[in-house]
Amino acid sequence: MSAPKSVRRVCLAYSGGLDTSVILRWLIEQYDCEVVAYCADVGQEEELSGLPEKAKATGAVDCVIRDLREEFVRDYVFPAVQANAVYEGVYLLGTALARPVIAKHHIEVARETGCDAVAHGATGKGNDQVRFELTFRALAPELQVIAPWRDWDLRSRTDCLAYAEKHGIPVTATLKKPYSIDRNLLHCSFEGGILEDPWRAPEEEMFILTQSPEEAPDVPAEVVIGFEEGCPVQVDGERLEPAALLQRLNQLAGSHGIGRVDMVENRFVGLKCRGVYETPGGTLLHAAHRAVESITLDREVMHERDRLSPRFAELVYNGFWFSPEFDFLRAAVLRSQQNVTGEARLKLYKGGLQVTGRQSPVSLYSEELATFEEDAGAYDQADATGFIRLQGLRLAARPTDSD
Ligand code: ARG
Repeated sequence: MSAPKSVRRVCLAYSGGLDTSVILRWLIEQYDCEVVAYCADVGQEEELSGLPEKAKATGAVDCVIRDLREEFVRDYVFPAVQANAVYEGVYLLGTALARPVIAKHHIEVARETGCDAVAHGATGKGNDQVRFELTFRALAPELQVIAPWRDWDLRSRTDCLAYAEKHGIPVTATLKKPYSIDRNLLHCSFEGGILEDPWRAPEEEMFILTQSPEEAPDVPAEVVIGFEEGCPVQVDGERLEPAALLQRLNQLAGSHGIGRVDMVENRFVGLKCRGVYETPGGTLLHAAHRAVESITLDREVMHERDRLSPRFAELVYNGFWFSPEFDFLRAAVLRSQQNVTGEARLKLYKGGLQVTGRQSPVSLYSEELATFEEDAGAYDQADATGFIRLQGLRLAARPTDSD
């Protein structure tokens, strides 16, 4: 490995688990520096009480915990819903959306505590290192970045445990985790372990946020989700703040087995990877949002925005949240959402969902125009004759195969 550069004080993204505990101590040994532990709460539901004590027992000079749940949902999840951002047709970007907000606050904490470097525990094979570090580059190019997994010679869990033992680092759970799990308010992801065989079905016990569709209630549930300018604001008539709204939908959709995805995706670093995701509330939001758009968006605006959606998803996935091209896309998406106000009704049943209604005070849908019954004359069916004749002109002029 390259010779360590000199750093005085490092801000480390810390969870209290084995990996980041070992990293904490390794930084001190390697750089003879101080370490400030930083922990972001994005709804991973890990025990945060006692974390500062644990960090300090491992050698940190300080430990800062930030509750980012509201900001995560309001400023990252909802914009992705507005964009209908879905990666490779199915992934709702639960992990990718949380990375920029975690990294943004990582930098803030680093600056506030006088650090000259930041460190994270993402491995050298994944997307997360890219997402964290591109955000660091974009927002704080002056900070040094340390990624121990790419530098040190600890190669396995066993190596880490041995290191912890040798340095008297407190580690609680020593049981090997069967999967790499990343959980937040939007989703839970599973990778690795038996999932590395893409043919092998996931075990039912693995799932955390969703009931199995088979075990879900035999009676369907209905929910009405309200949007203002493309942002979710209401559930069944009750106004809720972003995090609480998503939490409510997670509960409901999860109990009906909704939002599971099993895919092999293309990582930005160039390899294919099998991932299993649970995104219960997010799945409802995407469906309801589309339904409200169907009556409130102009056709051409919708189709322009639809062309941007896959690119928006790709930029989020690849870690370019803070980039000029992404600013541009966001502005365009935001402009498209001005009239997206209204509500959609969904029916949830055994892992599936159906839109059963949509309404809006600013609907562009006209029963008068669409009716199969006699209309008042706004649409003259005879006009369609000329419309089709002109559309067909060049089709008729084209030589046929037999010519
Ligand atoms: N493959 C997904 C993504 O790249 C999930 C990554 C989960 N990260 C983790 N450290 N377990 O967005």
